[in-house]
Amino acid sequence: MARPIGWGIAGFGWVAADYMAPAIAAAGDRLVAVADPSPRAQAAAKARGVPSYASVAELAADAAVEAIYVATPNHLHRVAVEAAAAAGKAVLCEKPIAATLADAEAAVAACRKAGVLYGTAFDQRHHPAHKALRQAVADGAIGSVTAVRILYACWLGPDWSSGHDGGHNWRADAGQAGGGALMDLAPHGLDLVEFLLGEPVAQVAAMLQRRIHAYPVDDGAMLIGGTRLGVLVNLHVAYNCPDALPRRRLEVAGSAGLLVAENTMGQDAGGSLTRIDGATGRHDAMVVADADASPFLGQVQAFGDALRSGRWDAFSGARDLDTMRLLAQAYRNEVKI
Ligand SMILES: NC(=O)c1ccc[n+]([C@@H]2O[C@H](COP(=O)([O-])OP(=O)(O)OC[C@H]3O[C@@H](n4cnc5c(N)ncnc54)[C@H](O)[C@@H]3O)[C@@H](O)[C@H]2O)c1
Repeated sequence: MARPIGWGIAGFGWVAADYMAPAIAAAGDRLVAVADPSPRAQAAAKARGVPSYASVAELAADAAVEAIYVATPNHLHRVAVEAAAAAGKAVLCEKPIAATLADAEAAVAACRKAGVLYGTAFDQRHHPAHKALRQAVADGAIGSVTAVRILYACWLGPDWSSGHDGGHNWRADAGQAGGGALMDLAPHGLDLVEFLLGEPVAQVAAMLQRRIHAYPVDDGAMLIGGTRLGVLVNLHVAYNCPDALPRRRLEVAGSAGLLVAENTMGQDAGGSLTRIDGATGRHDAMVVADADASPFLGQVQAFGDALRSGRWDAFSGARDLDTMRLLAQAYRNEVKI
């Protein structure tokens, strides 16, 4: 059996408690402790038999912790990553890497300087349908890829709560989140393009929207981009889409067909994958291997494998910084409506 990894979690809120902690257990790893100043989060950890520290510095000083998963609000990622790196811990940091590009660059640089493994928590790389999509593209199932079109949206009103944030909606605070729907939701889509095609988005432009919700960050964005070899990318992200509507769709178009993934983007396994034939228009449901495998479990296993083996190529701070640069470029070069 693989050597269990001793994990620490910085920021024991929604994604950490509901997705990461169960994945650590399912992988056979050990959650040593969490760091979170909130009494509510500390009580939630205690209820699971996990001790808490009030600060990331204390967590990083715990000798039993080998890797730290950072899941605080975005503006606190940098200090947490730097504290972990300074203590020699491997870091798996939630997306976006930070609330600003400068902080993201500093966080990744700190890990590089300390010589510790750094990964961004792009769990959707580990979704079984996305793995099947990537394989189908590589096998030439749709010929030459021409475009990737993504819709990834939700409803996030001013009073939205993760249920773990004490009612403070930091996602609607530009300083804490670094942006709105574009900053929160687009990293997944941009990263998936690289994962599915093996080729990153090279250039982007965006139109932003502040249409439905009375907060300062964008509640919708339309992003267009392209890869260096000429694949077009279109990403519609939104905080203003009612949750009951279709709102998670990923299409890869090619010269010989179209691949459509519905309801695959998100934290859970599931959804559907269809190939539409370019010659006949026939729809075929695709078989997805290990269709129920949790993306978060896959992510924990991949990170543990990298740590144990010393082969870090599945994770790349440099690659993830390019995604942050695209987000910064999209905000900087906003095309005004
Ligand atoms: N990959 C995904 O699918 C996914 C899903 C949800 C959230 N996220 C990302 O995860 C991060 C957390 O999001 P969330 O929705 O879980 O937020 P949340 O508000 O539910 O939880 C954040 C937690 O951080 C804690 N915290 C605040 N200051 C802290 C500090 N100084 N040290 C340690 N902990 C501190 C809070 O008390 C809270 O418990 C964000 O970066 C978000 O973008 C990713």
